[in-house]
Amino acid sequence: MGGTCSLKPYLLLLLLSFLNVTTIYSTKPSKEEAVFFDGKFRALYVIGDSLVDPGNNNHLLTWIKANFPPYGSDFEGGKATGRFSNGKTIADYIAIHYGLPLVPAYLGLSEEQKNNVSLTGINYASASCGIFYLTGKLLGQCLSLSVQVNLLEETIEKNLKNKFKTQSELNQHLAESLFMTAIGVNDYVFFYYKFISANYFANKLLHRFLKQIERLHELGARNFFINNIKPLGCYPNMIATTEPRGSCNEHANRAIGIFNNKLRESLSGLKKKFNNTSFLYSDYFNFMLELREPSSNQVRSKQLNTTSPCCPKDYHGSLTSSCKRSSIVCKEPNNYIFFDPRHPTQIANFMYSIACFKERSICHVVKT
Ligand SMILES: *[C@@H]1O[C@H](CO)[C@@H](O)[C@H](O)[C@H]1NC(C)=O
Ligand SMILES: *[C@@H]1O[C@H](CO)[C@@H](O)[C@H](O)[C@H]1NC(C)=O
Ligand SMILES: *[C@@H]1O[C@H](CO)[C@@H](O)[C@H](O)[C@H]1NC(C)=O
Ligand SMILES: *[C@@H]1O[C@H](CO)[C@@H](O)[C@H](O)[C@H]1NC(C)=O
Repeated sequence: MGGTCSLKPYLLLLLLSFLNVTTIYSTKPSKEEAVFFDGKFRALYVIGDSLVDPGNNNHLLTWIKANFPPYGSDFEGGKATGRFSNGKTIADYIAIHYGLPLVPAYLGLSEEQKNNVSLTGINYASASCGIFYLTGKLLGQCLSLSVQVNLLEETIEKNLKNKFKTQSELNQHLAESLFMTAIGVNDYVFFYYKFISANYFANKLLHRFLKQIERLHELGARNFFINNIKPLGCYPNMIATTEPRGSCNEHANRAIGIFNNKLRESLSGLKKKFNNTSFLYSDYFNFMLELREPSSNQVRSKQLNTTSPCCPKDYHGSLTSSCKRSSIVCKEPNNYIFFDPRHPTQIANFMYSIACFKERSICHVVKT
């Protein structure tokens, strides 16, 4: 993987010791496990927010963009593509795992390019947006979940369909493709404070999310890779305001935990309801929590800075501080898990793919 070649030797050691903890399986992997962990997909279609936006926001009227240095300093020779990191995102590492090309931003494609790349995948993710239509709109334009699914539907009708002779060949392509989602944290950022009950908010949000999953299923999706919501309360922009300073905002984490538990349960329900449909549930929440507070037997992030962002390096901690062109940047992003106050570094994203696919500690096939 390209992302690792600039690692210091001790970091490589760190990653290798991380590989050693791979669980020993006593039972034969199920057919679904074999497909998700060792199989291939024809295409990867990505739905999400800034965690996986590869540059859609570059084309929208918004301040929430990452298409300038120091973003992308470790991406293919230092390209600021619009990814909110110094390098690859988790969507990139997932594409790499399945042997697919990195999935391009929908809004950056010409009609001809859409025809071509619709066969291997398109990314609709948009920073600052969320599951609710109004989430993020205070900050400018962005593509909400339902809009992303509309665009995917349009791609299927206008670009993908004419690549196949029959409807059943198109259906087969879709059934052998992977549909990944990573969305929902911005709904908590923008709207959670308006609600008294975490339970009520989670139910409302989940209802909207599952509606779009059902739509994707109607369009032909049969393999889903669903990330739960990150532990927002432990991110640098949040821990700046906690008491004692630097501790996680447990109130935010608990509220998101309620959503995540309900999400996991309802995927099991959806699996019962749908025929021939598989879900991989990825526990992004606990992955980031563990990176931040490694348990005693885990060395994975012991030597990494888990509280401050790399950019701005002179971060004094505030809810609104962000990484700008003029910011002072750390010299070694590989020593940090956060690149800016809200987003992970490439090394954190790489560790995610190890934890998901090699260690299999955070990714689980949903059973009925
Ligand atoms: C689309 O694919 C064809 C065949 O592989 C190639 O010749 C063409 O240049 C591609 N077009 C674009 C815009 O990428
Ligand atoms: C799933 O298949 C069963 C029979 O095989 C059928 O009764 C049911 O309606 C199907 N459900 C869906 C959502 O297609
Ligand atoms: C499920 O998939 C199998 C094999 O692809 C197919 O034969 C069967 O008809 C499908 N069942 C439903 C209910 O779609
Ligand atoms: C993390 O980095 C910041 C600045 O980049 C520094 O002030 C802080 O002391 C570092 N924390 C640890 C635990 O190394």
